[in-house]
Amino acid sequence: MDEGRGIGFQNAVPWHIPEDLKHFARLTTGQTVLMGRHTYESLPERYRPLPHRRNVVASRSLTQPPHPDVELCDSAEQFVLATRAGAGSDVGGKLWVIGGAEIYQATLPQWDQVQLTLVRGTHAADAYFPPFEEFFELKEEVDRGDYAFRRYSRRLAA
Ligand SMILES: NC(=O)c1ccc[n+]([C@@H]2O[C@H](COP(=O)([O-])OP(=O)(O)OC[C@H]3O[C@@H](n4cnc5c(N)ncnc54)[C@H](OP(=O)(O)O)[C@@H]3O)[C@@H](O)[C@H]2O)c1
Repeated sequence: MDEGRGIGFQNAVPWHIPEDLKHFARLTTGQTVLMGRHTYESLPERYRPLPHRRNVVASRSLTQPPHPDVELCDSAEQFVLATRAGAGSDVGGKLWVIGGAEIYQATLPQWDQVQLTLVRGTHAADAYFPPFEEFFELKEEVDRGDYAFRRYSRRLAA
């Protein structure tokens, strides 16, 4: 997100930071990614489904997966809960919720950690990252000037 919490504009990411895309790939490759239908549709055709990852798309309107290698779920919340319940036996490894705004908002209560790239400045936006800082603690930051990689963990209940 940027400093105005923007993450998207007209179904595209408002910036292009190759290092951030590499960071995203390093974190998620070999694991499961859950995304909303809009985010799936926003991916360039050659990157969808995202390679070397189990791709799950959340939609209440689709009746068929948008691609033979994509799984469909009709409740993002239920998908996360079911994955957590099976944790340890899941061949898909970690589950990463990769947006967009609606899916972040719906699943936030289930997150264990947040891997955030904070992009300096503000951009035209119509999709925003939900407020999460109250529930999470900043554990690590790598400052790269125009952006910073941040890792947060859920705060332990008092
Ligand atoms: N900066 C970043 O890192 C980043 C990352 C990801 C996305 N984005 C941006 O975010 C924007 C897209 O966000 P968005 O909020 O518009 O869309 P989204 O969250 O990607 O997808 C919304 C769609 O997901 C389905 N949905 C929503 N809640 C659901 C739930 N609880 N269970 C099951 N399905 C559910 C609905 O699909 P149906 O209409 O089919 O029912 C809804 O229309 C784009 O601009 C994209 O570029 C940015």
